[in-house]
This record gives sequence, structure tokens and C-alpha cells, in this order.
Amino acid sequence: MRALVLGGSNFVGANLVRQLVAGGHNVTAFNRGQTQAQYPPEVQRLYGDRKNHAQVREVLGGKDYDVVYDISGLTADDTAIMVELFSGRVGHYIYTSSAGVYERRYYAPVTEDFPYNEIEYADYARGKAATERLLFQAHRERGFPASMVRPWMVFGPRQPSAAREQIFFLRVERNRPVFLPFNGYVHLQYGHVADLAGLFIKMTGNPRCFGEAYNAAGPDVITMNRYLQIIGRLAGKEVDLVYLDYLAAQEAVTAKRDLWPMPWHSSKMASIQKAKDHFGFWPKYNSDQCTEDTYRWFKAQGLDKMEYDFSFEDQLLARYGNDPRYRVRISPDGDLPQTLMRG
Ligand SMILES: NC(=O)c1ccc[n+]([C@@H]2O[C@H](COP(=O)([O-])OP(=O)(O)OC[C@H]3O[C@@H](n4cnc5c(N)ncnc54)[C@H](OP(=O)(O)O)[C@@H]3O)[C@@H](O)[C@H]2O)c1
Repeated sequence: MRALVLGGSNFVGANLVRQLVAGGHNVTAFNRGQTQAQYPPEVQRLYGDRKNHAQVREVLGGKDYDVVYDISGLTADDTAIMVELFSGRVGHYIYTSSAGVYERRYYAPVTEDFPYNEIEYADYARGKAATERLLFQAHRERGFPASMVRPWMVFGPRQPSAAREQIFFLRVERNRPVFLPFNGYVHLQYGHVADLAGLFIKMTGNPRCFGEAYNAAGPDVITMNRYLQIIGRLAGKEVDLVYLDYLAAQEAVTAKRDLWPMPWHSSKMASIQKAKDHFGFWPKYNSDQCTEDTYRWFKAQGLDKMEYDFSFEDQLLARYGNDPRYRVRISPDGDLPQTLMRG
């Protein structure tokens, strides 16, 4: 199979490239060449900035592929040029969207027919939704063979956003109190980068997937408390938690988004049944395994020695840490805190 990966050098794309090469496919990666990466020697490289349409036309125009994996598209404009160039020239066009496109609802799990979030769009999610609309329209009107994949938080080695996993690991490693919203019972769902690549490959070339969107997430859902307990077990430590009520949490995360760069005020749980029904995909990694694999990489890279400025958290501690009613210690193996669940 001739595969073009738009992106391919950072995390999701790099993992996909490696799995494709391991599967014996003919792989080309297109990017600007700015992100440092080590490619398997078999990978062909094409260079260009997808924001520069004249350049994209010159580099990708007239080429044919069995599949294009669009990992790097953030805006509809980024992908409109690809639809123009690859109409009639690609067997399957698979776009990496995001769980951020969904509206918040009062019930779970989130299925792929949930509406787009028209109210509180961040630029990132707005760009993903606009791109999906463009691709759905191209499929409807011209049969363009597009599919959308909507990942929840992606874990695994080389996850580039330090605040999300690495700083949580660091807090526990350094015996720092960890702030959590409410009583730590917001639910998290994530998936493994290798499972995401596996899903991309498994759906490839299946006409059932054209014009369809698929959630991509792990098979289980955990609370933030449980996330911290898993980290504590990996680090061999008890974890000291400080809970913040809604207003305190909102003020803190507004001042420093890095505190919880994940959904922190509501739980968003995915149904992953559609991918199973349409093309038989089910993820291999659960939450414990996702966290463990990411943590092992973190340790192997020596990231536990990284510099991080905890002064904001010191201020929070001075303000909120003295009330024992909001402090809980969780052991690596014991029961999770019930302290604030009574009544
Ligand atoms: N990580 C998560 O938890 C998560 C969750 C939901 C969705 N997603 C989505 O998954 C995708 C994953 O991103 P990733 O960083 O892991 O993917 P990646 O494909 O491994 O890396 C991003 C690639 O895009 C290239 N790139 C960036 N700007 C470009 C431009 N203007 N023109 C051409 N190439 C460009 C970069 O290379 P150069 O810098 O060399 O150009 C790099 O190869 C994103 O679309 C993200 O929105 C991620």
C-alpha cells in the first residue's frame, strides 16, 4: 500500500509511520522538516508547509496514494488544498480530528452522532470541526473517500505536551501535593498512541468508513483520583491530594492552564463501539497500561530531572492547603478516598 502521512514526525504521526513501515507499506511523510525525528530508512520524505498552498501544489500535485493520513491539519484551509489535489487520486483520506468537537451533554457515553459544540469552541476544536464539515461535504457531493477519527487524550511514549502527563508524574516523584478539582471524581478517558495507529491502519481502504467519523479511545474510564493512584503505584509513593471546590478550581486553572490541561470540570466518556462494529477494532491498552507505558518512557528519558516552576502551586498550597478537610492521602494499593463522598 502506498501511504502518505501528512505530519509524521512528532507523536501520533511518527508512531503511525513506524507501524506502517513494520507492516511492509510504502510510506511517504510530508512536513516542513522542522520537527526533529528519526525515520526508518525506508520512509520517503517530501518537504513543504501546508499553509503555503502554492508550495503544496508543487510538491504533492499529480501524486496518487492508496491512503492519505492527515495528522497535521488544524484548520479547514489546511485540508481544502488536499481535497483539491487528491480528488480522484486517493483511495482513502483519513483525517485526525479530536474529541474536542463534541458538545457537552448530560449523559454518556459520547457516540459519533453527538452534535458539534457550537457554544464554547476553542480555536483548536473550531478548526477541527470546520475541517470535518469540509470533508463530509466533499464526501456527500463528490464521493471523496474521507473518514474522521476523533481521539480522546492520547498517551504513550513521546507525548509532547509536558503538562498533561509529565508534570503529574513529576509532582508525585517530587512528593509534591497534587491539586485536583472537586473531590477528584471527574472521569478521564484516554487511549494509547499505538492503538490509535492500529485503528488508522485497520480502517484503511474499507468503503464502510467513507463519510463516517469514529471515536478513538481506550476501553475504560477512570477518575482523577485513580489516575494519581496509578502514578503513585508506578513511583512507589503515597500521593498527597488537595481538592479545590468549583470556584477555587476555576480561578486556579484560569490563572494557570497547565494545572489541568485536560477536561477538568466535566467528564467526557466515549463509546468506541462504532469502530468495532464497522471494522472490528478494539484497543489493547487500558488506562493502567497507557499510564505505565508513558511513565516508563518518562523515566527512561530522564524527564524526572526536568526543571519545572512550582511557585504557582506553592501559592495555591499556602492558600488552600491548610484545611485538612480538603486534603487526602492515597496509598498505591489501598482504597480510594471516600472522604468527600460521605453523606
Ligand atoms: N495528543 C493528543 O492527545 C491528541 C488528542 C486529540 C487529537 N490529536 C490530534 O492528533 C494529531 C497529532 O499530532 P502529533 O503532533 O502527534 O502528530 P505528528 O504527525 O506526529 O506531528 C505533527 C506533524 O505536523 C508537521 N507540521 C506541523 N505544521 C506543519 C505545516 N504547516 N506544514 C506541514 N507540516 C506541518 C510537523 O512537522 P514539521 O514541524 O517538521 O513541519 C509534524 O510532523 C493532531 O492533529 C492533533 O490535533 C491529538
